[in-house]
Parts: sequence; structure tokens; C-alpha cells
Amino acid sequence: MTDTSNFLPEVSPADDAAVNEAVEAAVEAFEQANDLDELKAARIAHTGDNAPLTLANRLIGKLDKTEKAGAGKRMGQARGKINKALAAREEQLQAEYEARMLVEETVDVTTAVRRRRHGARHPLELLQERASDIFVGMGWEIAEGPELESEWYNFDALNFEPDHPAREMQDTFFVEPADSHLLLRTHTSPVQIRAMLERGAPTYILVPGKTFRTDELDATHTPVFHQFEGLAVDKGLTMADLRGTLEYFATSMFGSDAAIRLRPNFFPFTEPSAELDVWYPNAKGGPQWVEWGGCGMVHPQVLRAAGIDPNIYSGFAFGMGVERTLMFRNGVTDMHDMIEGDVRFSSQFGMEI
Ligand code: DAH
Repeated sequence: MTDTSNFLPEVSPADDAAVNEAVEAAVEAFEQANDLDELKAARIAHTGDNAPLTLANRLIGKLDKTEKAGAGKRMGQARGKINKALAAREEQLQAEYEARMLVEETVDVTTAVRRRRHGARHPLELLQERASDIFVGMGWEIAEGPELESEWYNFDALNFEPDHPAREMQDTFFVEPADSHLLLRTHTSPVQIRAMLERGAPTYILVPGKTFRTDELDATHTPVFHQFEGLAVDKGLTMADLRGTLEYFATSMFGSDAAIRLRPNFFPFTEPSAELDVWYPNAKGGPQWVEWGGCGMVHPQVLRAAGIDPNIYSGFAFGMGVERTLMFRNGVTDMHDMIEGDVRFSSQFGMEI
């Protein structure tokens, strides 16, 4: 905004035409002002300390006596006209300003807001957390072990004979060089050995964790998957304790109508061993028995390998697949959905499962 006051002509209070001209210039400047800021600049230019009419007003005293009265009246009228024009324009501009603000600052509450999508925790994580909560609630502890495991923990200590076909039952990713005897753990059972060696007895642990097998990825298999492993070692534990624990786990996971049944099976690290089925009343295809995992009483050889005297202590153990649990519990039919990492899959489950 340029300060025009410097260019305004000097005015004598005795000069009728000059005063009128100055008044018209002021009125014109006010009318040209497009907003309150411009009006303020025009006001300062035409009525401020250095404005021609202000200066002229000061000169009245220096005029001839004969001119004084006329000049005083003239200047008074001039001031009146200017003030009136200024007030009128100010009112107009203020009203325009307010009207504009009302439009510009309006909030349209019906407008769709661009929302940032929330992420979601993966249901496999949530399920492992839920299982952990169930066992921690019973006073058990959560244990973990390495995913890159030594063959001894994964097989030998669990009573797999060197040439036992059970070793081939699990399609193992061995890690080179072969004499490192390292592998990607094929199950969470090696953590049983680690936990007993570290903690001794009694021990009550749940191990949720990642496991690996050389399966091709398809709708029901994935080379990287998860298991829950449970182990209890104490004096006098029996199959009845195993049963009761699994029953509680099943009803906590699948609802109070759920039930379990054990069918004879073989695992090298348990004797007797059983296949665990769960009666799942809310299954998608109607209530049914679903294979859930394996279990049994810890083999005395396994207790011995982990430094625990089988004459004093006994133990029970169980293991089941987390992916499989999510599949039948939550109606997920394709394994691909679980591993592709699309947040739209995860967010269906919410933050609790
Ligand atoms: N480790 C077995 C597997 O991956 C599952 C299993 C069976 C774990 C029986 C156990 C058990 O602790 O007692 O097939």
C-alpha cells in the first residue's frame, strides 16, 4: 500500500475550491478503499497529522481576521463531510468483511473427512497373546527359545532316534554347513528342554512361537508357521492334569460349550501320547470335532535329557498350530490371507480376538 499523503497538494483554509477539492479527494479515496486496511491508509492520508486538511486547519489562526470565521466554518464542514463519508464506508466494509468471514469460516459438517486408515495387529499375534493370557492366568509362565536351533534340542533331546522315521516326519530346513547341526526349529518342543535345563522343576510354561518346515505354501500349508507349546513338570502330575488343563484351554478359546477328546497316537517325546481333538460348537460348518494338536506325558528319557529325575517328577506336554487354530476358530479358509500382510485382513478381527 503506497502512502499517498506525500503527494497531496497543500491547501489553504481560505481557499474554498482547494478545500472542496481536498474533501472530494478524501471521499473518493474512502470509496476506493477495498477493505478495512486500505480504508485505514486512506483515513491516515486524508485526516492524519500530515493530511492537507489537518495542516490547513492549523493555519486558520494565521489568517486575516476577516477570513478566520469563514475558514473555520469551511473547515468544520469539510471535516463533517469527511467523517460522514469515512463512517459510511467503514460500515460497508465491516459488513462485507463479516459476510465474507461467515462464508470462509463456515464448517460443513456434512463433508466427508479424509480419514487416515488405522493399522491392525495381526490375528496370529492376537491369538498367541490370548493363549498366553489364559495360561498366565493359571500361574504359568511364558517361555521362548531360538528359531535357529541346534539339532540336539530339536530332535535328540526329545528322544528322536538318529534314524527314527519320526525325524523325517518333520520336513526340516537344515542349515549349512551340515556339521553345524543347526536347523530352523520344526516345532516349539525344543523349548521344553531349554526351559527344564534353565528352570529345573517344578516348571509350568507356555511357548508361543514361530516354526519352520519345508512345505510349499498353499491354502492349508505354509513353510513358516506358529505353535503353542505347553509343558508342566511337577511331582505327581498325571494324565488327568493334562486333560483338565486342555479342557480349560479349549473352553477359554472356543467357548464354554467346547469339549476335548484324546485319541492314542505316537510322539517320541511323550509316553503315552495322544492326538487332541476339540469339540467346536461354533464351527462354520456346524458343531464338529476338529483335530487341534498333540499331547502326552513327558517321556522319562526327555526328563532325563533335561536333567530332571523321572523318579521324582512327571510332566505333561502339548502342542498345537496357531494358524490351524485361527482357521477353524475364526473361519479363515486360506492360509495366504494370513501371510500376505494385507491390513484389510487383519483389521477384520479388531484389536481383540
Ligand atoms: N511337536 C509336535 C509337532 O510339532 C506337537 C506336539 C505333540 C507337542 C505332542 C507336544 C506334545 O508337546 O506333547 O507335531
